[in-house]
Amino acid sequence: MWPNLSLRGWAFCGALSAALGATVDTRQDRASETRDPCEPLARVQWTSPQELRACFRAIQTGPIDKVRDHLLDVVDKTLDQYHTARYFQKHAPPPFTDDVHVDLDAEFRRMRHTRYRTEFDLHLDLSQTIKGLNHLDTVYFNYCYDQVFMNYIPTPLVLVADNRGKERMYIAPNAFEIASSEFPDQIDVWQNALPGKLKGQLQSLDGAEVLEINDRDPWLAVNANARRSGRYQGFGTRQMAFFASYGTNDAGSWSYDFGDFASMPGPYEDSVSLTIRRVNSSKAETITLPYRSRRYNGVWYDKDSYRENMCLPNVFTNGEDLYQFPFASNSNASTPDKPINSLQQQPPLDPEDRKHHAVSVLVDAAPYSLPSLEALSISPPILQYSSARFYMLTDGKTAVLSLGAFSARSYISLQATLADGIQKVKDLGAKRLIIDVSNNEGGYVCIAHWLHRILLGPRPSTNRGISLDSILRANPMAQRIVKVIAEDGGDPDKTLIYNGHEMAWANGTWMDETTNYLKKPEKRYINGKVVEFSPRLGGQCVPWAYREPPETAAFKPRDIVIVGNGRCSGACAMFSTAMSKRDGVRTVVMGGKKGVPQQYAGSVGGVTMDFAEMRTEILSTGLGESPLALPMFETASLLSFTWKLSLGIKNPNEPEDYQSRAADITVPLTMETVNNPPEVWRQVAKIAW
Ligand SMILES: *[C@@H]1O[C@H](CO)[C@@H](O)[C@H](O)[C@H]1NC(C)=O
Ligand SMILES: *[C@@H]1O[C@H](CO)[C@@H](O)[C@H](O)[C@H]1NC(C)=O
Ligand SMILES: *[C@@H]1O[C@H](CO)[C@@H](O)[C@H](O)[C@H]1NC(C)=O
Repeated sequence: MWPNLSLRGWAFCGALSAALGATVDTRQDRASETRDPCEPLARVQWTSPQELRACFRAIQTGPIDKVRDHLLDVVDKTLDQYHTARYFQKHAPPPFTDDVHVDLDAEFRRMRHTRYRTEFDLHLDLSQTIKGLNHLDTVYFNYCYDQVFMNYIPTPLVLVADNRGKERMYIAPNAFEIASSEFPDQIDVWQNALPGKLKGQLQSLDGAEVLEINDRDPWLAVNANARRSGRYQGFGTRQMAFFASYGTNDAGSWSYDFGDFASMPGPYEDSVSLTIRRVNSSKAETITLPYRSRRYNGVWYDKDSYRENMCLPNVFTNGEDLYQFPFASNSNASTPDKPINSLQQQPPLDPEDRKHHAVSVLVDAAPYSLPSLEALSISPPILQYSSARFYMLTDGKTAVLSLGAFSARSYISLQATLADGIQKVKDLGAKRLIIDVSNNEGGYVCIAHWLHRILLGPRPSTNRGISLDSILRANPMAQRIVKVIAEDGGDPDKTLIYNGHEMAWANGTWMDETTNYLKKPEKRYINGKVVEFSPRLGGQCVPWAYREPPETAAFKPRDIVIVGNGRCSGACAMFSTAMSKRDGVRTVVMGGKKGVPQQYAGSVGGVTMDFAEMRTEILSTGLGESPLALPMFETASLLSFTWKLSLGIKNPNEPEDYQSRAADITVPLTMETVNNPPEVWRQVAKIAW
């Protein structure tokens, strides 16, 4: 059975299968032609990275140079005009100078002059270059290659310190149990890949110390991954992403992230050799394990149907004119899951909620979560909804909120659960609270502010419209969109993102649909470029939707700690940053390499948007024919970016993303605490109070 985590992918796939009728008839002919590298992949759930690359490299949607030029044109234009962080990312200030310094202008020039062998090679270069921004939501995908397969080995690694503080790498102690329950149909392939007497003894690798990876110091592999893995600004966080970690998924169970070593979104590596010392053995042994590619999505029979079904633009790729097809904007039933939803690392959202509440969330090709860790002995939560769970520790005074995302299917239920859960643990005697945000990749911006408000009560930090103010790009096209909406009544249904009716000025005053807020752009000089932005924006969350917060604080700032692994992005980063920098709430990062500074949060972003949504704004305001309008993708591409960018707390005139969010306390993981949340909480309670 295919895993249920791809449910959202299946919705997308359902839409595609409708388009299949035409290709079925020719299937017989095509199968009898000479070897087609995609044909053998059509019926399998697992394949090898080599075979996957062969299929990917066989796909061609047009002459390669033409495809390259057009693709770069669309991506460059979109990021140049709408990605608010773009010119900041050319050269970030300390402490991120070594982490964020991509000159996209130069990179696009370089790519325009590169002769790519195949479209897949072009794709790798483009997606990797944009990944190099190390930003939560600035990513380029192509459904031809991304999220169709994931690549795994059954030996996730952990980094732990012994009781003298010496850190070593190990194969996760429960690796076999997790891999065999997650990949029951593939485990034999790895069992048989082991050499000599080890054949069939995969379980005996559990807990083995890792001495070398590919015959070299394993830290070389960790650091190489950190340089290409993207997503997080801090180098320490990207190092940690190599290792296995836990989070909480939408079903409210523990989820197990295999880490970048054991799970890769692309077929980049065929195999890996590990030199290990097994438990109770003094001997170093070297094994080689193949990566195996597991299928998640898609329907095809051969190369041609693969290309047609997976690689060409579909109804979602290029946006739509909502006033031409009004059904799309105001009916729930006809709002199928957009492809972007399956890439956002958060639970699936109610489309109606999604329309009215801004999200800032990490975007990545990896599946949102793999359920696996349920074997943990832990008492049932006191209250739970989606990835939010409340617990009491046995000391009777420490409560825990384990929060896997700042979103859930229902906005109102998550909002209520957070308020009710806090009240409940207080009724049970809680004097202090641990908030575990491990692998919390964001969600609703106003849920972040809500949680801050209900925890700390009314005070300057919470008596504001939103956690962090923000700015938008005010390029000539954005100015025209806002003008059409505000002055020509261009959005009567109030359905467009640029409509002022859900925006507020920095002083908290709300705008309405007639406010032309981009009329007077503000120029900034950033890394050698003059860029126009909106005035400072605030607001958005207050007055509170659905429910009023309590009059009083639930806890004092010193009685709260936020704990995680640094992988806390978007709305999670907004929450943690505002709690820490405005109210002095302490932050704890568990794990990481000794001596490497750890950030408690990755990038904050602001509001995540994608190319199709942007083009929908342009088409729906009747500006599709303008020479400034965005061209269409001619491939099944998706580009997401930071549309609103949050401004900082310590330096309120510069983006928060490029200001430090250093953890107050960093604690090495041990064999007791690694991937064991109850042990983590017990230890944090001891250290923090
Ligand atoms: C290693 O040795 C200890 C002590 O003899 C024993 O308790 C443990 O079960 C052994 N572990 C394995 C995996 O052999
Ligand atoms: C969409 O669904 C929500 C509840 O799920 C409902 O309140 C709303 O009226 C629906 N909208 C339309 C246009 O049907
Ligand atoms: C808030 O700011 C806006 C824009 O600068 C201004 O028009 C409005 O009058 C201000 N409101 C208050 C109450 O100061």
